[in-house]
Amino acid sequence: MTDTATAPAVTGATKPTTKPARPFFSSGPCAKPPGWDASKLATDSLGRSHRSKIGKQRLQYCIDLMRELLNLPDTHRIGIVPGSDTGAFEMAMWTMLGARPVTALAWESFGEGWVTDAVKQLKIDPTVIRADYGQLPDLGQIDWTNDVLFTWNGTTSGVRVPNADFIPDTREGLSFADATSGVFAYDIDWSKIDVATFSWQKVLGGEGGHGVLILGPRAVERLESYTPAWPLPKVFRLVSKGKLTEGIFKGETINTPSMLAVEDCIASLEWAKSLGAGGLIARSDANAAALDRIVAERDWLGHLAQDPASRSKTSVCLTVEGADEAFIKAMAGALEKEGAAFDVAGYRDAPAGLRIWCGATVDTADIEALGPWLDWAYATAKAAA
Ligand SMILES: Cc1ncc(COP(=O)(O)O)c(C=O)c1O
Repeated sequence: MTDTATAPAVTGATKPTTKPARPFFSSGPCAKPPGWDASKLATDSLGRSHRSKIGKQRLQYCIDLMRELLNLPDTHRIGIVPGSDTGAFEMAMWTMLGARPVTALAWESFGEGWVTDAVKQLKIDPTVIRADYGQLPDLGQIDWTNDVLFTWNGTTSGVRVPNADFIPDTREGLSFADATSGVFAYDIDWSKIDVATFSWQKVLGGEGGHGVLILGPRAVERLESYTPAWPLPKVFRLVSKGKLTEGIFKGETINTPSMLAVEDCIASLEWAKSLGAGGLIARSDANAAALDRIVAERDWLGHLAQDPASRSKTSVCLTVEGADEAFIKAMAGALEKEGAAFDVAGYRDAPAGLRIWCGATVDTADIEALGPWLDWAYATAKAAA
């Protein structure tokens, strides 16, 4: 006789024997790069002034590596700023918006956050173009005489822009991309980007705390020719005496950075460089393809992002048949308890579902190993429901 008390009568109830070697699937902070070890970080810059020769050298080296790995052209500046991606994007909004009308796009929680700031804080009455979770709005509707705010990869819905083709070369407004879970995972046509921001905690598997701000020439022109009506705190100021503060883009940070976070980022970038050109993108592609196979094999799992062309290859959001928040919590809790998968529940504002980070620091074998565990967690949550 089967022991129904301990074995739920649902397909996939058997607990798998092999766990993902690195069960870290959080969408931020994301898994550290394979082989990462705190003891391998360079520490000579620690306990020293960030304005010392070594401090500035390491900051500049970090900037140089980011530029190289992003294929960022010389036309664009790249600098390290306070406040993670939020700090970098807010800095861009507060210093450059207000010069012309604004369009803000939102199809998930983070884009919606920028809309809220534009409306309630800056009070600039933007045109808002929205879509529901799982959808991308019609990008053809955008009036490019406006400045345009958008999220390259919506981390909470798993919907991204397919590429930068929707941004015209002849735009009058500036394009502002919150690209935090997009950079290093997709090829970005930088000629279409006036402002981009990201933080190290996503595809690079770095630490939170610092943001990265990328400025194209038209953004610099805006900064040097326009002064917003509102006051700017010191940590947002990019201009001095009407000229861009160039030092920020050479490692002379506005205020004190964590050199430990910088060294950790350098270690990730060196790992990324060792993969060769396109290595990070290839790893993310392979992970997303492996997860896609898992989804295709199960009729109870689906993608929240409806259109494969705009489906994220980093923050992949999944629907689970019949699941509400409590069911997802039970699944994620069971996986965590077993040490089989951490942080796989969807974002709190998103429809109940799973979210599996497929960025470059995750190993494809670990995504593959996750499939049977999802079956087990689904069966376990069903049995408990
Ligand atoms: C699209 C997007 N924007 C902004 C943020 C906020 O990033 P940070 O915590 O680095 O400020 C996140 C974090 O997940 C994000 O995914």
